[in-house]
Amino acid sequence: MTNKSLYVCTAIPYVNGAPHVGHALDYLLADTYFRYQTGQGKTVRFQAGTDEHGNKIWSKAAELGVPVEDYVTENAAKFRAFIDKLGVHPTDFVRTTDPAHERRCQLIWERLAPHIYQSTYEGWYCSGCERFITENEYKETHGVCPDHQKPYEKLSETNYYFRISDFKDAIRQKIESDELRILPDFRKKEVLHLLADSPDVSISRPRKHLSWGVPVPGDADQVMYVWIDALANYITVLGFPETDISSVWPADVQVVGKDILRFHAIIWPAMLLALDLPLPKTLLSHGHINVDGAKMSKSLGNVVDPLDVLEKYGLDPFRYFFLRHIDTFADSDFTWDKFSAAYTGELANDLGNLVSRLATLCAKNSVSLPSSSVSKAQAADKADPAFAKLMDEFKFSKAFDYIWDKVVALNKQIDEDQPWALAKTDPAAAERSLKSLASGLLTVATLLAPFLPETSSKISAVFSAPEITPPAPLFPKS
Ligand code: MSP
Repeated sequence: MTNKSLYVCTAIPYVNGAPHVGHALDYLLADTYFRYQTGQGKTVRFQAGTDEHGNKIWSKAAELGVPVEDYVTENAAKFRAFIDKLGVHPTDFVRTTDPAHERRCQLIWERLAPHIYQSTYEGWYCSGCERFITENEYKETHGVCPDHQKPYEKLSETNYYFRISDFKDAIRQKIESDELRILPDFRKKEVLHLLADSPDVSISRPRKHLSWGVPVPGDADQVMYVWIDALANYITVLGFPETDISSVWPADVQVVGKDILRFHAIIWPAMLLALDLPLPKTLLSHGHINVDGAKMSKSLGNVVDPLDVLEKYGLDPFRYFFLRHIDTFADSDFTWDKFSAAYTGELANDLGNLVSRLATLCAKNSVSLPSSSVSKAQAADKADPAFAKLMDEFKFSKAFDYIWDKVVALNKQIDEDQPWALAKTDPAAAERSLKSLASGLLTVATLLAPFLPETSSKISAVFSAPEITPPAPLFPKS
């Protein structure tokens, strides 16, 4: 295959409300990968979108007395605006109500036909998860969904089924061999455990129970199960099956929350194998963000509106907190206090002060960097194997810690060197110290580019200029 671009995908959120801080994580992790790889000269396609079908959305629109088409359009626009505010710019955006997506879903269904059969489902269903529940799960949870705190509903329906059993062995082999790499490793183990117990999955619902969805081709009484329609988005957005997608597909990484990994690690690979398409290379499963130690929920009243945080602190502090203090893989906690402490202690003090102090000293002593040092520092991301390894393993919060160690070391160096004192006694030594510190900060700026794009370019502009001048405070204290 020649010139395949890289492809990063994000889960498409349900548009049954406005975005909350949890939704930011998919986009920021994908964007960090996107910026890192484009910075390495790679061509990267970046998909995002909105999941607009299903009963959950339909009921919410009905409850509000709004036509469902208007409701999803309004909320999809909120998500798009939110993504933009995060400084994230996907190259491809899909709404599952796009006519092209719906048409391609139907074509995909027809291609899956050899693995589809009709049967009657009798069992449990969670409308919050839009998911069928096995007897084992029902027993383990005592009949109440742990994520939605709602009792499961009893269903008895004749539906179409997708024969997952045709692909279970192949999926297991691909996961075990890391051909389909699941990160982190403990999630890979969970998936392998779930796979063993995975029954064939019902992939349609009678129209009388689910009217808001893609019609099953050739059967006016059935509508596609929302997950089949939703998972297909990663390839319909590229034009499949009407277009050859081999210059983009397979995805190099798909970013998903831990709650939806099972769909992406079992149903999605089965669909792809049935379609004769390669599997994504990596499924990156992140943890969930809790607020003040509790799961975010409307009933607890602890849902944090990301726009409030962005408005109060600005974009890079938001990206900083969610990419460094929210662990890439484990559940983490958001609190306004932690956010504010990170802003003041780390961004304003560690980094912002260092930039001002150093730029002021360089200006005062007429020190700037020769272009050879600038180019060297600006290639730091390519010349640092430890950093590259963390980035390649998607350990983004750890990579951020690695950069911060450099910030802390530069603060230590400036305090030890005391270039302001040296300037009086040994100007040549002062110049050497300032140059070494300035090139250290340029290196930091280069490494920071995928994480904090604005801050990175500001620092780069200051220390690569032929004449260094102190900038306005990067992180003003309010
Ligand atoms: N529509 C499905 C995904 C279909 S993908 C083919 C869905 N939507 S969702 O709105 O519930 O979730 C969208 C993404 O946000 C998922 O990756 C989910 O894990 C993530 N998060 C939702 N709440 C979250 C937190 N509290 N913290 C971190 N991520 C969270 O599932």
